[in-house]
Amino acid sequence: MKNKTAILRVNLDVTDREIKSSLRIKTAAKSITSLKGKYERVIILGHRGRPKGYEKPLSMKKIAEALAEVSGAKIVFVPSMEKEKIKEAVSEKGIYLLENMRFFEGEAENAPQFAKFLASLGDIFVNDDFATAHRKSASNVGITKYLPSVAGELLKAEIKNLSKLMKATKHPYVVVIGGAKVSDKLGVIKKLLPLADKILLGGGPGNAALTAQGIDVKDSIGLEEADLLKTLIKSKKILAPIDFRVQGDRILDIGPNTEELFIEEIRKAKTLLWAGPMGLFEKAKFAKGSRIIAEAIAESNAFSVVGGGETTDIIQKIGSANKFSFVSTGGGAMLDFLSGKKLPALQALKINQ
Ligand code: 3PG
Repeated sequence: MKNKTAILRVNLDVTDREIKSSLRIKTAAKSITSLKGKYERVIILGHRGRPKGYEKPLSMKKIAEALAEVSGAKIVFVPSMEKEKIKEAVSEKGIYLLENMRFFEGEAENAPQFAKFLASLGDIFVNDDFATAHRKSASNVGITKYLPSVAGELLKAEIKNLSKLMKATKHPYVVVIGGAKVSDKLGVIKKLLPLADKILLGGGPGNAALTAQGIDVKDSIGLEEADLLKTLIKSKKILAPIDFRVQGDRILDIGPNTEELFIEEIRKAKTLLWAGPMGLFEKAKFAKGSRIIAEAIAESNAFSVVGGGETTDIIQKIGSANKFSFVSTGGGAMLDFLSGKKLPALQALKINQ
């Protein structure tokens, strides 16, 4: 394969603030390193944000610099959006990062013409981007029609570890769910409820559960989604917060008694999943619940998986990312996978879910 070109899809969807510390950049750097000596050229595809056409703040220029720094490899950024110029720019041996895939016409629509163009740049497609696996785009799904396509090591690790959570042989199995919206997490709660021994709810889902139990959460988020949990909350397996930290009429974090209650369950667990902060963790005053949960899971010897953008942010901040069995790079993709939905990018690679 020495004289071949690999097209590598990785997840580079990070904000300016988190570029250097991001788990996604670190894992993408590993993917690049693993292909480096194997192919003459590696052409990296990634996206940032949800731009409508070219939007300078979402350019990949800074990402190329960060990837080079973290991987130690020379990475050439290709700023051009013109097909002929891109072909010319990547003609020499080397590692290249193309501009934000979502700047290009045809990416989001999974247009065959754009997928064919991407495929024409290489000999093999390696998809190592789990976090977009729930999207059907030209650079992760369409391209597989025109090139031999394989899953990268990160993608395989995501599937292997997340699959364990859907069989969970080791009990007690404790699931901690937070974040803003119940609707985002409902599929996971429903799917895992028969398997799990306890589902601990904080954040928006916690507030919705309280409302469903008839408790007035006033102006807190989650209030309007209470109906979604009305039936599920009858299960003894689901624990809602028992006290809170508030500001005005809003619940912004779980309280000390809830922390104790949740920690006790976490300590007993042999399998753990955590997705979504317990409160408004961006504000120091309301970060305690999330931090305590992170620390309890980090101390546990259970098989533990943490995922979701905000949750991984918390564990990066407290520096405990290496204390979990697996940290998923996926946000929506992880939730869809754990809900039992078929993910288009995995289907395209003929991976059995
Ligand atoms: C993510 O951040 O979860 C992925 O990069 C997918 O992003 P999207 O929700 O904008 O498709």
